[in-house]
Amino acid sequence: MNHLDLPPLTRAVGTVRLPGSKSISNRMLLLAALAEGTTEIRDLLDSDDTRVMLAALQRLGVGVLCIPGNPLRGQGTALGDNSWRVEGCSGVFPVKDADLFMGNAGTAIRPLTAALALSGGHYRLSGVPRMHERPIGDLVDGLLQIGADVRYMANPGFPPLAIHPAGVKLTGPIRLRGDVSSQFLTALLMALPLTGQAVVIEMTTELISRPYIEITLNLMARFGVQVQREAWQRFTIAAGQRYRSPGVLHVEGDASAASYFLAAGAIGGGPVRVDGVGRNSIQGDVRFAEALAAMGARIEWGEQHIAARAPESGKLRAFDLDLNHIPDAAMTLAVAALFADGRCVLRNIASWRVKETDRIAAMATELRKLGAIVEEGADHLVVSPPAASSAVSSAPTFNVGAAIDTYDDHRIAMCFSLAALGGVPVTINDPHCVNKTFPDYFDALAEITAPVIAIDGPSASGKGTVAERVAAVLGYHYLDSGSLYRLAALAALQAGVALDDETGVAALAAGLPATFAGGRIVLAGDDVTDAIRSEEISAGASKVAALPTVRASLLARQRAYRRFPGLVADGRDMGSVVFPAAEAKVFLTASAEARAERRYKQLIGKGMPANMHALLQDLQERDARDAQRSVAPLRQCDDADLVDTTQLDIEQAVAAVMSIVRRQQL
Ligand code: DC
Repeated sequence: MNHLDLPPLTRAVGTVRLPGSKSISNRMLLLAALAEGTTEIRDLLDSDDTRVMLAALQRLGVGVLCIPGNPLRGQGTALGDNSWRVEGCSGVFPVKDADLFMGNAGTAIRPLTAALALSGGHYRLSGVPRMHERPIGDLVDGLLQIGADVRYMANPGFPPLAIHPAGVKLTGPIRLRGDVSSQFLTALLMALPLTGQAVVIEMTTELISRPYIEITLNLMARFGVQVQREAWQRFTIAAGQRYRSPGVLHVEGDASAASYFLAAGAIGGGPVRVDGVGRNSIQGDVRFAEALAAMGARIEWGEQHIAARAPESGKLRAFDLDLNHIPDAAMTLAVAALFADGRCVLRNIASWRVKETDRIAAMATELRKLGAIVEEGADHLVVSPPAASSAVSSAPTFNVGAAIDTYDDHRIAMCFSLAALGGVPVTINDPHCVNKTFPDYFDALAEITAPVIAIDGPSASGKGTVAERVAAVLGYHYLDSGSLYRLAALAALQAGVALDDETGVAALAAGLPATFAGGRIVLAGDDVTDAIRSEEISAGASKVAALPTVRASLLARQRAYRRFPGLVADGRDMGSVVFPAAEAKVFLTASAEARAERRYKQLIGKGMPANMHALLQDLQERDARDAQRSVAPLRQCDDADLVDTTQLDIEQAVAAVMSIVRRQQL
């Protein structure tokens, strides 16, 4: 079985740029398809569920086109812009007969079923086996009331469905249940303006997950259709309203996805900041931050960001909350409960039972694997965290090495990754289920939690060799940041960009087409491993490294090296700028004489001419220059441990660094 081993994690600090919201992405795509005019959607989520919607729209003859991306895509937090142009079909799908595969995307199958039932064609909608177990009967009942022809192809109440043309009559109000999924109401609301007639929908039960209806109404309004809402009971759409493209739209960051990082900040110290949602978000799941605040976490709200930190003192507090308004983010709270100071109650979450899996049963089973005591009810969950490890320490003791099953449910994989912050290794089985909404989730989590060892020191101190060996001993990734400056210099020389052209070099550095594999460095298809070590490039690297814009343009790329299980990063500002919260910082040095002698032996060994006196002078001058330069000067960080290797060979130097690393319990 495919699995991901998460190392024990001790803290979470940093910033994450969120992927686009799934709920907003799929609604915008459908509304843009149904509208008159062309819509450009920026920052669309790129995941399984949006691909399902895009593929279905293409299959139905709607013009959807990816707008060529930003060259930085895939280099920062692996998230870049993903923009699409949708040619609206004014409510008439060009293709009148189609088989549509909807995967396990509830946000695609429900609204499309309603839209297709009103569009006069023959369609068959199916999905993965789990989709055929997820109810759709309430929606179909709503559609049958107005004369639509929708039939069950297998089990009554569940997909797959067959849809045929039918004359639709809107005589009285459509009566709809709202206690199984709010997506049924969303589906009807989005589709019914296609009839051009006046429509009234009346709820026959309480409506759950109301914030999702607010997203629907908000987005319909942006496409020019107003819905009158009376409490959460009655919804009226006046006759004659049609969807019109608003032109360019921007997808907010995914607030449900934000929950994992905010919880990480609350559990793992923080601050952890998510960029892409803020206090004016139209997504109900941002209110997850209020639940965290109720647990004692310190929350900061911005226009376009939210940040979370651990409580001022002590542990997160236990809670007893009605979570009907944040059903998805509430799963994250169930895992946060493992870190609370007592029994936590999650109420009014019955909809969990009909999601990607039966989430109440699945969460209970997996939380128990970590040592929690869990009571499972029809519509609630009670989680008592594992006992504290001792009377002195308040840290909980989780069962070590739990293997979490994920049930093809992206949210189970994502929320249980936080358990590793309990300081125990955790295995996530079938981690690729995160592709449903957040393909780069584990990389984003690593960028705020994976342990980093930062190693710096003067040239010829042996830091590169030592850093690479330490990485090999620990099985960590290795970043030789100097090679990025060397590559930037080489790329500039090749492109004819002057080395003091700050903007020009920075633009090249930001998009370096470089790959590192098997000890070789390849730039735009050429192996440049040796070329970047030449004297000319060394001097060039030193020049471009002094340009602040160049340094800034390499920042995201360097941070993206932080992956599980950890990273050893070697270079000038690793511990001060790039990874200021690194778990271990080492300043490796040696006397100038010792370093000159090492370089001398190296050169002689390669059969190259060398002069001891000249080498020493050269090193001393370089040290002075490096220490005095205004940008990223050579300096030992206050919190770095000094390792003087003057009397040490490489093995001893590696051992000295490893003893510092072990002290941090990495
Ligand atoms: O470590 P190295 O010799 O390969 O580095 C090449 C140049 O880049 C050198 O002048 C130091 C500089 N550098 C830097 O300024 N910041 C880093 N993080 C790494 C290297």
